[in-house]
Amino acid sequence: MKNIAVFCSGYGSNLQAIINFIKKKKIKARIALVLSDRVDAYALVRARKEKIPVLYADPADFKDRVSYDRFLISNLKKKKIDYVVLAGFMRLMSPYFIRCFRGRVLNIHPSLLPSFKGTQGIKDALSYGVKITGVTVHFVDEKLDHGPIIAQSALEIKATDTQATLAERIHRLEHKLYPQAVRLLIENKLKIQGRKVKQK
Ligand code: GRF
Repeated sequence: MKNIAVFCSGYGSNLQAIINFIKKKKIKARIALVLSDRVDAYALVRARKEKIPVLYADPADFKDRVSYDRFLISNLKKKKIDYVVLAGFMRLMSPYFIRCFRGRVLNIHPSLLPSFKGTQGIKDALSYGVKITGVTVHFVDEKLDHGPIIAQSALEIKATDTQATLAERIHRLEHKLYPQAVRLLIENKLKIQGRKVKQK
């Protein structure tokens, strides 16, 4: 059984979607750790409810990004973590972290990358006036929202959409797409070839 760590900074609805998927036995893996950089992340509450071990690590307690990431890596090793799933984790991973877990870290982003990178993907797409946006699951590399793309799902932006209504539909898409991508990863069905991800 493969061990997953999920990193969250906030609400944790994607964490919940993955938990639910695992409970339905659609993924044969165990979430062995939920990590947060924020003490008040609701994701920690969700994890505790499910009796998943949690770790809160405050970046302010570390002298720089690499020392923070070294601490994370040592905890991941202790828990024998195979894969790291970023789910609303609002920190850029250091090159050191990526080297240790290359090809084993996933992220979900609420836009069709490479459009609207950064922390405001939903708002930025809406204010830019694009008619179609969506969600992207990708491998994490050294650059922000940049690694090889595993899956994307699109939706239309309606003239009546507000940030709240669009965010709701984006999140619904995320909750379908992310667990499926995690399953492909766990089942070793993904092969990275340069920028492309092929299904084996
Ligand atoms: C999601 O929109 C995800 O795409 C982005 O952060 C948000 C996290 O939401 N990276 P949640 O904490 O999973 O509810």
